[in-house]
Order: sequence, then C-alpha cells, then structure tokens
Amino acid sequence: MTGIVNRGAAAALRGRPEGPLRAQCEVLASDRIGAYHSLTFVAPEIAERARPGQFVSIGVDGSGTVLRRPFSIYQVGEHGPSVGTVDVVFDVLGPGTAWLAGRGMHDLVDLVGPLGRPFVLPVQPVSCLLVGGGYGAAPLLFLAQALQREGLRVDMILGAASEERVFNAMRAKRLSASAVFTTDDGSLGEQGVVTDVFERVVDGAGTGVVYACGPMAMLAATAAKSKARDLPCQVAVEEQMACGTGVCWTCVIPVQREHGLSNVRACTDGPVFDAARVAWRAIGTTAMSDLGACGRQERT
Ligand SMILES: Cc1cc2nc3c(=O)[nH]c(=O)nc-3n(C[C@H](O)[C@H](O)[C@H](O)COP(=O)(O)OP(=O)(O)OC[C@H]3O[C@@H](n4cnc5c(N)ncnc54)[C@H](O)[C@@H]3O)c2cc1C
Ligand code: FES
Repeated sequence: MTGIVNRGAAAALRGRPEGPLRAQCEVLASDRIGAYHSLTFVAPEIAERARPGQFVSIGVDGSGTVLRRPFSIYQVGEHGPSVGTVDVVFDVLGPGTAWLAGRGMHDLVDLVGPLGRPFVLPVQPVSCLLVGGGYGAAPLLFLAQALQREGLRVDMILGAASEERVFNAMRAKRLSASAVFTTDDGSLGEQGVVTDVFERVVDGAGTGVVYACGPMAMLAATAAKSKARDLPCQVAVEEQMACGTGVCWTCVIPVQREHGLSNVRACTDGPVFDAARVAWRAIGTTAMSDLGACGRQERT
C-alpha cells in the first residue's frame, strides 16, 4: 500500500473496537438520493468500528437471494439524533437490491460489518483527489470527511451516465475545495468521463495522492493516469462477492508479485488496493474453477 497510516489517525483509532460483528439493525430512514436509494440503520457497534472504504454485508430476503449482498459504508452518524447509525446507498439491479428498496422505517435487517480493509490516510499533509463513478462516490464522501478532519485538502471528480446518477453532488461540493462533475450525456458538468479532466484537476489542486471508487474500467483508467503522473493511488473495487469473509474465493483480484501474478480476495485483502499492485489487464481472466471457488450461481 502506498503510504503508511497517518500517525495521528492511528493513535486516535487505538482503543476503538475493531473487527466485524453481526447485528439485527432497525431501519431509521429510507430515502432517495437522485437515482439511488439510501437506508439508514441503527447500528451503533458497526458505526463505532467503521472506517472509510469498508463495507457491510446485508442479508436480503425473497426469491433468488440466498447470498448476502455487499454495500460500501456511505456514512456513519457521529452526532445528535443520528449517532450510531450506518448509511448505505444503492442502485436497484436485481432481487437483493429490490428487496432492500422495499425496506421501511422500523424494519429489521441483518448486517455484518464493517468488513474489508479501509483506505489508508496519507502521512504527509498532501492534497487528496477523490475520483468516483456512480454510487462509487458514496464511500469517497465518507473518506472526504476523514481527510478533512486531518486538515487535508480534498478535491473531487465525480462522474456518471447522467445528472441523477452523479451521487450527491451538493454534498460533494460541501466536502471539497473543488468538485468537477462529468456525465456521458452532458446533463451535469462536462460531457465526458472522469479521466478527461484528471490532469487539469491534478494541476489545479496540486494533487499528491489519488483515491478512487467506481466501475472497474474507470478504476483501471484512473490508475493509469495516476501512474503516468507518478501519483500514489488507492482504489476500492466493487468486485462481485459471495461469502464476503474470505472463504469462497469468488472475489479474486490479480495482483503483481515479484515472481508473477497471484490472486487475492477483494473481500478480505481489499476492497481497497494500491492501484500500482493490481494487474489490471488480467482482471476477469481467472476461471473460478481454477480456484476451486463455487462462484455466484444462485439465480440459475
Ligand atoms: C465491496 C462492495 C461494495 C459495494 N457497494 C455498493 C454500493 O455502495 N451501492 C450499490 O448499489 N452497490 C454496491 N455494490 C454492488 C452490490 O453488491 C450489488 O449491486 C448487489 O449485490 C446486487 O444484488 P442484486 O440481488 O440486487 O442483483 P443481482 O441479481 O445479484 O445482480 C444484478 C446484476 O448486477 C450485476 N452485479 C451484481 N453485483 C455486482 C457488482 N458488485 N458489480 C457490478 N455488477 C454487479 C450482476 O452481474 C447482474 O447483472 C458493492 C459491491 C461490493 C463488492
Ligand atoms: S467473497 Fe468469498 S472469499 Fe471473497
């Protein structure tokens, strides 16, 4: 991982409980943010442990949903009436997210978390560029709060297909020194993709480190741009997962080792990776059968 954990932050975290736990969590609020759904859970023990980049694994119900579903932690409530809450944001894609979208106030939902390795905060007082695609912006807004608390400059580039799919542009503006938006159809910000404006933003902000979350192609392109500018870059991948706890090897990501490639698990070794270690071209080329993994086949 590029950079070592910020010493001040590490000291602040000492004494905080760590590790995931399972809880039946009451839904405190259900909302819409643009094209996305959000749920706020009463989950004080998970909130206390959660760090930006980590995720929760949610038990969903209904036909075709045996496996739990992973979602990045968007924010945790630290003050006032929202203290001890955990928020997730999601797009409805299939049965699991459709079931979640139907949850309302006071429903109980089964959460395991926080899972995975979080983003590593910079040691130096550098300027941080956060690059997000679609709902991938959600964990970056959580990260932006942590970086701001460390007194670091935060700039953002958020992109999506269209305006309603750029996640929470207003909040992004509030949490950053500058926020640039790109959309495929030009309905918000500049028409194009996040990497089109990357160099310009890096130059303007004096970026020293890059953090990214979003679709794999966007992460690969952001990693390449960062490498070309010699900028350390951490990416949070949203690879499909089954167990979420390191057992099934469904979620493998190929990484460069000294003597070739090896596979690591996105759920326990990630989801945050040093972008320079990821073997981007090899992603998706490893057969699950080679790994003895069960794969995700519940909907056949
Ligand atoms: C660490 C992590 C964090 C995530 N955070 C979020 C989040 O904050 N918000 C959010 O909306 N989603 C997030 N996801 C993706 C989310 O887990 C899936 O959208 C969800 O599991 C889909 O379940 P489903 O039953 O609704 O759809 P399924 O029936 O399982 O899938 C519907 C369609 O979506 C595709 N799909 C499923 N999972 C993924 C995935 N991970 N990436 C790309 N395509 C997928 C399937 O191939 C299928 O075509 C995250 C995934 C991971 C691994
Ligand atoms: S999802 Fe099972 S090992 Fe990662």
